[in-house]
This record gives sequence, C-alpha cells and structure tokens, in this order.
Amino acid sequence: MIQPLWLRRGQAAGADVSKRVAVLTSGGDCPGLNAALRSLVLAGHQRGWTMLGIERGFRGLLADPPAVRGLTAADVPAARMAEGGTFLGATSDLDPFAVPEAGGRVDRGDQLAAALAQIAAEAVIVIGGDGTLRMAHKLALRTPVPVIGLPKTIDNDVTGSERTIGFASAVAVAAEAVARLATTAASHDRLLVLETMGRTVGHLALAAATAGAADAVLIPELPLQNPEDWSALAQRLSHAPSAVVVVAEGAARGVAVAETLERLTSRTARATVLGHLQRGGPAVPEDRLLAAAFATAAIAAVATGGDDTAILWQGGRPVPVPLAAIAAAARPVEPAGLEVAMARAAGVWLPAG
Ligand code: F6P
Repeated sequence: MIQPLWLRRGQAAGADVSKRVAVLTSGGDCPGLNAALRSLVLAGHQRGWTMLGIERGFRGLLADPPAVRGLTAADVPAARMAEGGTFLGATSDLDPFAVPEAGGRVDRGDQLAAALAQIAAEAVIVIGGDGTLRMAHKLALRTPVPVIGLPKTIDNDVTGSERTIGFASAVAVAAEAVARLATTAASHDRLLVLETMGRTVGHLALAAATAGAADAVLIPELPLQNPEDWSALAQRLSHAPSAVVVVAEGAARGVAVAETLERLTSRTARATVLGHLQRGGPAVPEDRLLAAAFATAAIAAVATGGDDTAILWQGGRPVPVPLAAIAAAARPVEPAGLEVAMARAAGVWLPAG
C-alpha cells in the first residue's frame, strides 16, 4: 500500500496566491481526458490562476518555442465534459529521456525543465498512464517546479490506483461488443472471439467479459499454458450452443485463438479485433466524475504544497501520494483477487492458474 502524503506530513495551509499552472496529456488517449482538462481549467480559474495548455504532451514542451497557450473558458465548453480524445493532443511514441537522434538516443530531460522555466510555470499537471507518470517522476528530479501526475489509461494498470480515467468508458464499449457478438453467435451456433486491448494486463478484457456475460476470457495474468487448459476450454465450448470468448491482446491474438478453437471443437469460429474503438468516443459519466475528482485533488495539491505528487484512486476517493511511488511495474490483475472471482461467479471460464 502506497502511503498517502497526508500521513507523511501535515496538510500545508499554503496561501491561495495567483499561480501559473501548466497541464498536458501524454501517452495513448482515452475518454475522460477532456473532462479532466475542463475541471482543471475551471477550478484553476476559480482560484484566479493562469492555466496553460501544453500541446501534444512532452513533444510540445520540447518544441522551440514550447507549444504552450493560455487556456480560457472557451477552450473547455460544457460539451468538452463528455467529448472523447484530448483537445490538447497527446504523443504516445516519445520518451523525452531517450529521444532517437542521428547519433543515438539523447536525454532531453533538461530541455523539458528549461521549457517549464521559460513559460514561467509554477506547477505542471501531467495526465498519463504508468509510462508517462514515470517520465513525470524523472522530470520532477530535474525541475524545481512541482509535478502533479493524474492516472489515465483504458488498461487501468497504474500502480497503486484502483481506477484510471478512461477505463469505465472502454469497458462499456467492450462489454457492448461482447453482447452484440453474442446475438449473432447464437443465430449461427458459432464461437466468436473478441480481442480487446491490454498489452500487458487483463483488467479491460476481464471487466468486459464479466459485464458482457462472455463464456470465457483469456488474460496475460492467467494465460492458457498447457494442452489440458486448451482441452478444458474446448470441452466447455463444444457443449455450448454458441459462445463468446474474450481475449486480451497481451494474452494471445484473437485470430490465433479462433483458429485453435475451430480445430479443437470442429465448430466455426471467427475473431473480431476491437482495437481503437475502445479508446475513442465519449466518456461515460463514471469517467467524467472520476476525472473531476482527480482534477479537484490535483488543484488542491498545487494549492497546498510543493511536493511532487501523484493522485491515485484508493478506497473510492482520490489520494495524493509521492510521485516516486509510481516508479514500478504496471498493476496486474490479481489471479486470486475479487475481479477474477466475480468473473467466475458470473459464469465466465478462466484457466485455473
Ligand atoms: O496503453 C493503452 C493501450 O490502449 C494498450 O492497451 C494498447 O496496446 C495500446 O494502448 C495501443 O496503443 P498504440 O495505438 O499507440 O499502439
């Protein structure tokens, strides 16, 4: 358990003086980023702060001059609360601490710090997944400007955070996909395989399978490891009138699973790759509320302290912790945890593990 900052030090009473606060979104996008930006901008304005938007994540800070602009209420109209994507843009293929250049990889961390000084930022709020938050921590070691990290990713795998912005919206899309596949699977007595995102973890596939009432789910944390597992799955599917199997991309490719199941069961099997449909489109209300909660805590962290902070979701609320606590591996599904037990209780088959 990562210790909340308020257990490490008393809540600072800091005066609410005017500040220049920069915000950026980085890594793969997801629904709920605009909701977070809207809440950050409006809450900052309510305190009389100047809110600055850095475009295209860390890439915008490395631009010369930095791609930064003042954000006004006109940038965050009501429609932004639900709108997918990020109006600031994001970059998912740049590590500013290892930028590929002619002579090899170059560390541009000091340039990031210099850019923050150039734009006279007094705090920077970085919204990103575990990779981005680790970069934010590296940045914090180079700059005196407080760095505040907020967790977002449809993968829901940020260390120490029970929820991330974007997860609920992606689950809604993937669970609906399961339900849509189930009706056509039933019409044709078929096995249909749905490949979801989730490069290293299975939270999204597992939640979609449970909420969508799939027949089986394969996740990286509980992969099909031996012929007995495959036989057990094939046996189960052979007796089902039709079935939907959800596969996290990090566990196996959907097409390969469909081919194997066709061979083992002698039934028609087809695969669907859901891909970026899970990242696009509007944020569900749960993600909008989560984004607003994270933004509220981030603004409070900027107002009260100078510490580098990540806001994580713990026990149903946003909790500030040291940003350094994110410098660990992604949060996997616990094979013996509640989510797996819920799936099994709802009739979803998983390997024994
Ligand atoms: O990290 C979020 C994620 O959605 C992964 O689940 C997925 O593998 C990846 O992004 C895809 O990102 P890209 O389109 O940049 O390859």
